[in-house]
Amino acid sequence: MKIACLAGDGIGPEIMAEALKVLDVLAIEGLELGHADVGGTAYHKHGHPLPPETLALCQASDAVLFGAVGDPTCDALERHLRPEQAILGLRQALTLFANLRPATMFAGLEDLSALRPEVARQIDLLIVRELNGDVYFGEKAIRTLPDGRRQGYDFMSYAEDEVRRIAHVAFRAAQGRKKTLCSVDKANVLETSQLWRDVVIEVSAEYPDVALSHMYVDNAAMQLVRNPGQFDVVVTGNLFGDILSDQASMCVGSIGLLASASLGEKQTQYGTLGLYEPIHGSAPDIAGQGKANPMAMILSLAMLLRHSLGLEAQAARVEAAVAQALADGIKGADLGGSHGTAAIGDAVASRL
Ligand code: IPM
Ligand code: MG
Repeated sequence: MKIACLAGDGIGPEIMAEALKVLDVLAIEGLELGHADVGGTAYHKHGHPLPPETLALCQASDAVLFGAVGDPTCDALERHLRPEQAILGLRQALTLFANLRPATMFAGLEDLSALRPEVARQIDLLIVRELNGDVYFGEKAIRTLPDGRRQGYDFMSYAEDEVRRIAHVAFRAAQGRKKTLCSVDKANVLETSQLWRDVVIEVSAEYPDVALSHMYVDNAAMQLVRNPGQFDVVVTGNLFGDILSDQASMCVGSIGLLASASLGEKQTQYGTLGLYEPIHGSAPDIAGQGKANPMAMILSLAMLLRHSLGLEAQAARVEAAVAQALADGIKGADLGGSHGTAAIGDAVASRL
């Protein structure tokens, strides 16, 4: 079993160290770790945010454990050299089209949610975000119009097969949960969304046991703070999923708690090839200070164990250890606590 560890930028290396500490406690036999540079770190060392050797390591692994990318010193670079292109490039190169972003309220954290505790308590949802298409990967540029004005544009599109494959992932996820699926789009305005909705309805014929509903994204953003308990599995496109998953994180209490799995169709000997990362970014403002909450990273490791290595029992143990640490009051600054990155990692490791 081989894991490619890409710590990346900002707080990435700090939180990665804590996840590896937890992995060490599990003492999984036959596990091999590889490390490579990615993001701004890779750009500064090798001149590219996703160097060929980094991609090769990922392609030769069963799973990728990913910290974060984003480096303000790279913001003025041409877009293809910016750190974010590394994660977008990996999602594309490994065809990781299905991004699973669970958001569940941890017992005892209700008071930390941006929502009222009785509303927040209800949160137990899974956002299934399409990750290989949409406006993220369409033609884009800043061009000069004949009259001299500059114009920025990004081409939004979804092909039916792209919608179909993510819809299947979402319906199957719904079958394993409460058997309800809400598809979020903007079909009242966008043709891309109209096709999305048509195809999701077509696919639904194969899942008669799942109750399908549709919601416009603006309404979904509103409903997510009004009554998040109404959602179980939500399926949506790349851009809407990016936005709604950050919003869902604050409903749970902190973006420092949300993990994600990005999966494709490729099966390895042990499970599905995937990339696992916290949904937060590199947080350059607190990088190197030992303040970042590593829990989202550790929970991403749990998802890796489950989906890519077939180690459900170990995944559940890691999740239980995080929940126990939280219940015991082990909280980072993001949750109003005073525990640092290493102390949180130690606390989770000792509860394992
Ligand atoms: C995320 C991030 C990325 C995205 C960025 C870093 C490119 O916000 O994973 O949600 O927009 O997908
Ligand atoms: Mg995002």
